[in-house]
Amino acid sequence: MKRREFLRDAAIVAATGGIIKSNSLYAKEEEGKQNTPPLEGTGEAPLIDSEPVLQNYAETSMGIAFSVTDWANGYVIYGEKPDLSDGKKVWCGGYRLTAMDNEVIQVRLTGLKPYTLYYYKIGADRIEYKDGYHIRITGNEERERIYSFRTAGKEAKAHFCVINDTHASWKAFNPTINKVMELQPSCVIWNGDACNTEETVAAQKRIFFKPEIDRKDFAANIPYLFCPGNHDNRGLANRHLERIWMYRQPEERQPRDWDLGRNFAVRMGDIAFIGLDTGEDKVDTNPKFCNLFVSEPYRVAQQAWLQDALRQPEIKKAPFLVALCHIPLYDPRPDMNPGDVYPADVDPKYKTDFAEWQRTCAKLWGPLLEKAKCQLLLTAHQHAYRLDQPNEEHKWMQIVGGGPNMTGKNEGHYPTVIEGKVIDGQLCITIHNIYTGSVQETVTVSKRRR
Ligand SMILES: [Fe+2]
Ligand SMILES: [Fe+2]
Repeated sequence: MKRREFLRDAAIVAATGGIIKSNSLYAKEEEGKQNTPPLEGTGEAPLIDSEPVLQNYAETSMGIAFSVTDWANGYVIYGEKPDLSDGKKVWCGGYRLTAMDNEVIQVRLTGLKPYTLYYYKIGADRIEYKDGYHIRITGNEERERIYSFRTAGKEAKAHFCVINDTHASWKAFNPTINKVMELQPSCVIWNGDACNTEETVAAQKRIFFKPEIDRKDFAANIPYLFCPGNHDNRGLANRHLERIWMYRQPEERQPRDWDLGRNFAVRMGDIAFIGLDTGEDKVDTNPKFCNLFVSEPYRVAQQAWLQDALRQPEIKKAPFLVALCHIPLYDPRPDMNPGDVYPADVDPKYKTDFAEWQRTCAKLWGPLLEKAKCQLLLTAHQHAYRLDQPNEEHKWMQIVGGGPNMTGKNEGHYPTVIEGKVIDGQLCITIHNIYTGSVQETVTVSKRRR
């Protein structure tokens, strides 16, 4: 619904000169496009200009998104046969209208079977739109490459990777993704701060669809889950990140949780994942952000969602409960800002004027996670790797993933891939240090005792 409203409000369909015009937010990008010379021999740039990105790994649905260069009506053809001879075509968007777009195509496949291998390919019609009665398909592009993915579920191979704080730093992101591709997990969780402050859709697409790395197909065969970080809210374009990274499927949540499109509760083999969004790292009253953020009620709303998510049988019964959120829910150091310093995050007790960890979220969600016997909380944000063993304040182990620093300076400041795999009834966690290319630490987690 949100996406449609945004398109309705933002894409100003002005018939001046006959062709659909983009809104002012994207006007700069449109200008840039006009200056891009067409590809030799074709007369125009390819319509599809990215690999597909598998978004929102789930048991019975999968999101597939890709970038386009012009007005396009995109689709996915998917099936269980490798040659797609049983292929079904699903257009972008939901009911009533397709989500024709000139930037990003988002297709959601629903009614899938859990832990099932599907094959797919992507395509799009190029649309010339003069007005409601004068519309033409001026071309079609269908990628020849057939990709595949496997849905989540109780039978799935319990093997995941977590990346975080990639911050469009290609020097760190490239080897991070190379490590993920080598490990070939069932899914990757991107634990926030993929962005910096993104003002344009072009800048967002550069991060999520066209990163400057070797493996452009990084998310074409391995599905992703996304836990936003504070930087993923910043910048004009990021106020509508759902244009780039779709919300969870509406049917996966009840009306009360309609606006909680980023939370997830997914079962992968013996592991249940819970995804939470810690929001901004500044209090809502901080004058720096001019009342443009409302993280507080958002965190409270997620408490009710979490309570219900933990009661779902496939989550409740999983031998391992792993929660994820961007900002840590604990910090052993007394001078680290806990994110509840009003009105402007400033207190001489703390080193920084932003949240290094999130005490409010710890109070709201911590008791529920503890009661559910959550064993592991995977966080990010601090750009320095750390492992906090369980203690009196938190009964789960907390791991803080590293950051995009590839200089080798400062203790703990290196990118990490946190790998988790269930082996012989234990959850084995391996922290890969991407700067040194070696294993930093390994730790095992035992099954939940209930
Ligand atoms: Fe960060
Ligand atoms: Fe952050």
